[in-house]
Amino acid sequence: MVNITVNSQIISVKEKTYILEAAKKQSIDIPALCWQPGLEPHGACRLCLVEIEKSGRKRMVTSCNYPVEEGLIVRTNTEEVVKTRKIIIELLLARCSTNKKIQELAEKYGVTESRFEKKEEDCILCGLCVRVCREIIGKEAIGFSGRGIYRKVTSPFEQPPQECIGCGSCAFLCPTGAIKIENGLNMRKIAEINCEIPLVFCQYCGRPIAPLRQIEFLKEKTSLPEDIFYTCAECKRKNYARRLIAMSSKR
Ligand code: SF4
Ligand code: FES
Repeated sequence: MVNITVNSQIISVKEKTYILEAAKKQSIDIPALCWQPGLEPHGACRLCLVEIEKSGRKRMVTSCNYPVEEGLIVRTNTEEVVKTRKIIIELLLARCSTNKKIQELAEKYGVTESRFEKKEEDCILCGLCVRVCREIIGKEAIGFSGRGIYRKVTSPFEQPPQECIGCGSCAFLCPTGAIKIENGLNMRKIAEINCEIPLVFCQYCGRPIAPLRQIEFLKEKTSLPEDIFYTCAECKRKNYARRLIAMSSKR
């Protein structure tokens, strides 16, 4: 364990913990758009900036990927931190001027207008979608392409990604809702990454369960009985209840 001071409060945290995690455990609010527990921090959005003081020297660092060390002093709300954070939010607000999540974030941190040129993007290029696909699902169905103002998240060569299992983890973690899942009659579509995968339906009630490739992926990873993959949650519950009733009536 190491002792650090966050906003004048001494706390004891495990070695190698990042400042942001340590602060969150103390319910200290630091905005963080590109950080998710379980994924390697990337330091992309810069929102989580804090001031650190080490051996009398102060500087700003991104708290999501800066590990704690004995005696470290952290300040999350100095004038300089708040000012810089507001500039970062202004930049985000300019890039995503019509995005609800970014507007809400801006409002929360007191940013009402942006001095920068307005665009109507939804993606802030935080990379969470790319990282969850690679680090958790073990696929590389999406990535970044282009440079500078042309940088964007897409599938390899902007073609339907053969690696995509349609699980939707990218959409689930996207902090701005830039990736959207659309379940049609027979297909799951994730337009932003050119993905379209047939859905599998419940063998009992015909309700959609999951995309075919996701079911195949799960079957490969587990040794569960085949039946489980083709039964929706509701029918599993009903079947279970029926079995319980049948068992109790035999007693
Ligand atoms: S699509 Fe969403 S998760 Fe992916 S980089 Fe853009 S904002 Fe981040
Ligand atoms: S949360 Fe730290 S840089 Fe985005």
